[in-house]
Amino acid sequence: MSWSRREFVRSVGWGGTGMLSLPFIISRGREELSARGIEGQTPPLIEPGFIRISGNENPRGPGDAALRALDGRVSFKVGRYPDNPPGLAETIAGLYRARADNVLLSTGSAGLLAGAVRAFTSPERPLVNASPSYGAPVGTARRIGTPIREVPVLPDLSIDLNGMAEAAQGAGLVFLCNPNNPTSTFHSGLSVAAFIDEVRRSSPETMIQVDEAYIDYSEDPIGGTAVPFALDDPNVFVTRTFSKAYGMAGLRLGYAIGRPETMQKIEAAWGLGSVNVLTAAAAIASLNDPAHMERERQENARVREFVHSTFKGLGIDAPLSNTNFLFVSLDRPVGDFRDACLEHRVQVGRNFPPMLDHCRVSLGTMGEMRRASGVFAEVLRTG
Ligand SMILES: Cc1ncc(COP(=O)(O)O)c(C=O)c1O
Repeated sequence: MSWSRREFVRSVGWGGTGMLSLPFIISRGREELSARGIEGQTPPLIEPGFIRISGNENPRGPGDAALRALDGRVSFKVGRYPDNPPGLAETIAGLYRARADNVLLSTGSAGLLAGAVRAFTSPERPLVNASPSYGAPVGTARRIGTPIREVPVLPDLSIDLNGMAEAAQGAGLVFLCNPNNPTSTFHSGLSVAAFIDEVRRSSPETMIQVDEAYIDYSEDPIGGTAVPFALDDPNVFVTRTFSKAYGMAGLRLGYAIGRPETMQKIEAAWGLGSVNVLTAAAAIASLNDPAHMERERQENARVREFVHSTFKGLGIDAPLSNTNFLFVSLDRPVGDFRDACLEHRVQVGRNFPPMLDHCRVSLGTMGEMRRASGVFAEVLRTG
């Protein structure tokens, strides 16, 4: 699908009153664009008066330290190639008491997801993913002719870890999204450890990828991470992104962490781009400002609690979210709900087959969600 100029202008908010603030532009990325072609997908709208809660983005953008770092770097020096931004891999590694060669940088984690499927699967070595879960690895697998084993989520919408471990036998790669997009559920560090143990025992050749894109919003970002396993075991690696809690989706930065030999295999399989100097400066400043991350977590939790209780009050159920979105169970097809919300200038998430009676609602600012909640109430009341 190609965009007309008018749609493009509308999407970036140029012209007339459509000017957008810097944090807004930086924090909006391409999550929905990567899902183009999926039925029920509408092009992202950024237009004054519209509330866009269809992509898992951070409406607050990065913290002040990151914005200041960006300001400080905009100079003639950006005329030079970045040549692996000094300090970024080291700063990330420092978070985990790891070394720079444990970290593989990418312009957004999407490239790492594609690289992992290309590195570790083949027509003889399937990909295992939950369903529904983040769909990008499945998209890559289809492109290269890798068979896919999808394991339905459990009735409480959590990932079926036993089912995933069973499906992993003989597979090339298991993609475990923790917390899971779109169901928002989270498995504790202990459950993930038991899952890894089981896969390592029953299918020792299988690679295990734990995607922790949303873990900063979870109940246990430190105890819940699989990074210690990844640093220890060449068959396990973790992917993370600056697009969510760090509010930098538009700046494009993600990383994988694991054994150097595992990082090298992913890097050899796919072009990961080179991180630009502005992004690197903003990321380092963010990592050196943990107080901002704590405020971000708290604000997200406050908005999440508000939206959850709004839906609850309307008789609509959703699992306890460990992310910056809710996956609500509707009593109608999601397409009808989405269209009705759009008429009120609120854009909610696309279809997540096979759960077409559920809607993913990403969290905007508190102000946006108060207005959106009024729309949800009206749409649900009027049927
Ligand atoms: C679970 C998950 N992993 C990875 C990504 C890719 O993010 P990015 O390429 O912005 O780092 C996303 C984006 O929405 C996601 O939801």
